[in-house]
Amino acid sequence: MTIQTVTLNNGVKMPQLGIGVWKTSNQEARNTTAMAIKNGYTLIDTAKQYGNEAGVGQGIQDGLKVTGKSREDLFITTKVFNGDQGHQPTLDAIEGQLDALQTDYVDLLLMHWPVNGLYNATWWAMEEIYAAGKAKAIGVCNFNVERLSDLLDNGSVVPAVNQIEFNPRIHQQDVLSLCQENKIQVEAWSPLGGGAALSNQAIQQIADQHHKTVAQVILRWEIQQGIVVIPKSVHEERIIANKDVFDFSLTDEEMVIISSLNTEEHTIWYDKFKWSGNPDGVDDYIDHRN
Ligand SMILES: NC(=O)c1ccc[n+]([C@@H]2O[C@H](COP(=O)([O-])OP(=O)(O)OC[C@H]3O[C@@H](n4cnc5c(N)ncnc54)[C@H](OP(=O)(O)O)[C@@H]3O)[C@@H](O)[C@H]2O)c1
Repeated sequence: MTIQTVTLNNGVKMPQLGIGVWKTSNQEARNTTAMAIKNGYTLIDTAKQYGNEAGVGQGIQDGLKVTGKSREDLFITTKVFNGDQGHQPTLDAIEGQLDALQTDYVDLLLMHWPVNGLYNATWWAMEEIYAAGKAKAIGVCNFNVERLSDLLDNGSVVPAVNQIEFNPRIHQQDVLSLCQENKIQVEAWSPLGGGAALSNQAIQQIADQHHKTVAQVILRWEIQQGIVVIPKSVHEERIIANKDVFDFSLTDEEMVIISSLNTEEHTIWYDKFKWSGNPDGVDDYIDHRN
């Protein structure tokens, strides 16, 4: 089954489902990327902070060789590292990232986190990278309403994507609404709740009705809301199954049941990046864990 695409606000087409490679070594990222491409994935989501761009670059070469596809058939996403934020460091860092990924351009370059006091300057550098054709689209991750509004006020290019934590347990409806108003595509990270959402009994019952797995139902629930998903797995049978979500639909009632599981709790250190009310504030925080 072909993976659906969405059209970003600059006209670029983006697959609605791809593979994530957080918490994988270079070797695992290489294998996972190659397996994903072999099984029909074209969107690969990595980041300098994951330490595996080189592995992804090798996996892309392996995957292209096996499938006969070309670079243009893929949609490669990477992210600006928190430690590289600011205007010149961002411009300098992209060159090494492209080298590691063995490509002249990425399809989507995201700012990994909004580092206070730096994210606007980082964005201006990303606008230059976009103008130079080294990224076909640029966007952000983990931007809440206040920061996204600030970026929209200070930037020239409207972000094409905001990649945020989104799964049945966290919806960030306020961020979603602002993104929709500004034609910013929402992309879900941890779409399976990092695996934690997979043991839910209510979703299991829905899955049984459709002869699908819980993972497939969760991904379908996200896709049906127009969200892009990047489930991570290093196992080929899961990589294959996670993509098999375009041949069934959830009813309105089923969508509501899954939506009602929301607890709106971030799973990781989101509070470290809490909006201080001062975008140039003193509470700069550089986190090197993700
Ligand atoms: N922008 C950001 O700040 C940010 C933050 C976090 C993540 N991300 C991106 O989002 C991607 C996805 O998020 P995530 O990796 O945190 O979590 P996730 O995709 O929600 O869940 C991944 C976990 O679920 C397991 N899994 C996957 N498919 C499964 C299936 N069909 N059945 C059972 N278990 C399954 C995986 O295990 P196995 O690998 O063992 O199969 C892994 O433990 C990341 O890889 C990364 O690319 C971005």
